[in-house]
Amino acid sequence: MIKLLKLFRYLKAKEWLFFLFSLVFICAQVVLELMIPDYMSSITTLIETPNSAMSDVWSAGGMMLLCALGSLISSIAVCFFASRIAANFSRRLRKEMFDKVESFTLEEINAFSTASLITRSTNDVSQVQMMVVLALQVVVKAPLMAVWAIMKIAGKAWQWSLATGIAVVLLVAILGIAIKLTFPCFRKMQWLQDALNQSARENLTGIRVVRAYNAEKYQEKKFEKANTDLLENSMYANRTMTMLSPFMSLVMNCLNMSIYWIGAVLINAVAAGSAAAVTARVDIFADMIVFMSYAMQVIMSFIMIVMVVIMAPRALEAAKRISEVLGTRQKIVSGTVTDAGSELGTVEFKNVSFTYPGGSGSVLRDISFKADRGETIAFIGSTGSGKTTLVNLIPRLYDATEGEVLVDGVNVKEYDLESLYAKIGYVSQKAVMFTGTIADNVAFGENANAGKLRSALEISHSQEFVDKLEDGEGAHMARGGTNFSGGQKQRLSIARALCRDVEIFIFDDTFSALDFKTDRQLRDALREKTQGCTKLIVAQRIGTIMSADKIVVLDEGRIAGIGTHRELLGSCDVYRQIALSQLSEEELAI
Ligand SMILES: Nc1ncnc2c1ncn2[C@@H]1O[C@H](COP(=O)(O)OP(=O)(O)O)[C@@H](O)[C@H]1O
Ligand SMILES: [Mg+2]
Repeated sequence: MIKLLKLFRYLKAKEWLFFLFSLVFICAQVVLELMIPDYMSSITTLIETPNSAMSDVWSAGGMMLLCALGSLISSIAVCFFASRIAANFSRRLRKEMFDKVESFTLEEINAFSTASLITRSTNDVSQVQMMVVLALQVVVKAPLMAVWAIMKIAGKAWQWSLATGIAVVLLVAILGIAIKLTFPCFRKMQWLQDALNQSARENLTGIRVVRAYNAEKYQEKKFEKANTDLLENSMYANRTMTMLSPFMSLVMNCLNMSIYWIGAVLINAVAAGSAAAVTARVDIFADMIVFMSYAMQVIMSFIMIVMVVIMAPRALEAAKRISEVLGTRQKIVSGTVTDAGSELGTVEFKNVSFTYPGGSGSVLRDISFKADRGETIAFIGSTGSGKTTLVNLIPRLYDATEGEVLVDGVNVKEYDLESLYAKIGYVSQKAVMFTGTIADNVAFGENANAGKLRSALEISHSQEFVDKLEDGEGAHMARGGTNFSGGQKQRLSIARALCRDVEIFIFDDTFSALDFKTDRQLRDALREKTQGCTKLIVAQRIGTIMSADKIVVLDEGRIAGIGTHRELLGSCDVYRQIALSQLSEEELAI
């Protein structure tokens, strides 16, 4: 509950103003609705009174109609304001969540899981929105109505009040039981939604593999389970809640009957005969009619509250989940340094060790090396030796557990994140493409001019295939770049890095998807065109890195050797083995 209230700080002044408006209309609605029984009572009295004028009945009836109309208009106004408030509110929540998630590191995203983050910023927000619309209309109105109606009927015969009281207690008891039964289900709902989302996402992203391995049935089964879980949970919760409806009708009808019955007994109790007795009986009758309307109002208010209470657990859980996202403190916080340090273009690791959050053993141990400006440093090692992990520490995708990572002589933790990112051109192991054109993907938010774009495409050897496309740079890129080959995407992602003015390039296994010829040409072009820039290259092939200024050989997270190709062949066993597995002795020229 507190979580939901806390979210209200995202409401703006305008919405609070709308809230005030809706309060006014709610009050108007309650007053108008509760005036109706008064007119009803006067009509009843008029009819029972001999010689009463028909015009009086008409005017009272007219007033009743007006009240009903006024109440209708007020309720439309309340609805309007409530929807406006809720829609704006949820739009803001979604924006806040999106911004927050964008600032998350991989660690936080993994902790929530992508599927859950999607449900949280869509379905969860909708749940809260629905709740806000309903709550705005009901939470103020229902108690107001109930109290007012109770006050109006307080003076009448106590037997009637007792009957109404019993009905209310019964209703509350039935509700209490229903809520107790379904509360856990409604709370679970959002989590089951997560699971469903996860299953659907995984299947869609992996659809090629699923097809290729004929695993549709297997995947279907997994989806079916998530789907059935959600179904069963919803069925149970909704079935229980639907059971409420007949019970509530029963209680209401019993109350109706009791009021008439009590009325009949009361009327009978008045000794018949005299004119005074007739008047007394008519009074009781009029009272009864009025009481009935008010009693119904009381019960209706309780039913309205119930509607909110039914929705509450799910919405509260959703609110909690939203707050969790919004309240997450990023592990990686931006520092303050914006200007370059003293040693421009250098990258240095000082005794760096790293353990993945929640992971058991350390993935990197005691890594120290330094890349000077303009140097090419290569990293080689078997899969799983920690190469990707190592380069990820430079743009702070993760922070080193021990030791320091320095860029331009300044610890990366001290940099303002944007300034740090502006220094680094990072090309990840897996090329990531977004929906749009090729030019969109390469310029990627940067205002690159045509010349720069072209030169980036040329250096990365993308130009040759881009030119063959009908629309050239304007060619459409499907979601995830599925309409391009792995090597093509890889080259475009290199072009993306080349398109910005950075000091340090990081290529994480970027060249493995290229054929040998392109690999060679691309590296030559890179060397020529990016002379002042420091390059960190992770590679599998000795050929790719042979000419590097320094080669760092990684073995199970430790440095097995640092040096040039020639030095390492002589001194490093691990390197020699890798080299021998790829090239003949003659090629290696030992
Ligand atoms: N997100 C992660 N969480 C936990 N362990 C990870 C994660 N990513 C990689 N690892 C582990 O870290 C080790 C090194 O991985 P990685 O740096 O990707 O190796 P390389 O790039 O050299 O193939 C592997 O043993 C892998 O299991
Ligand atoms: Mg890797």
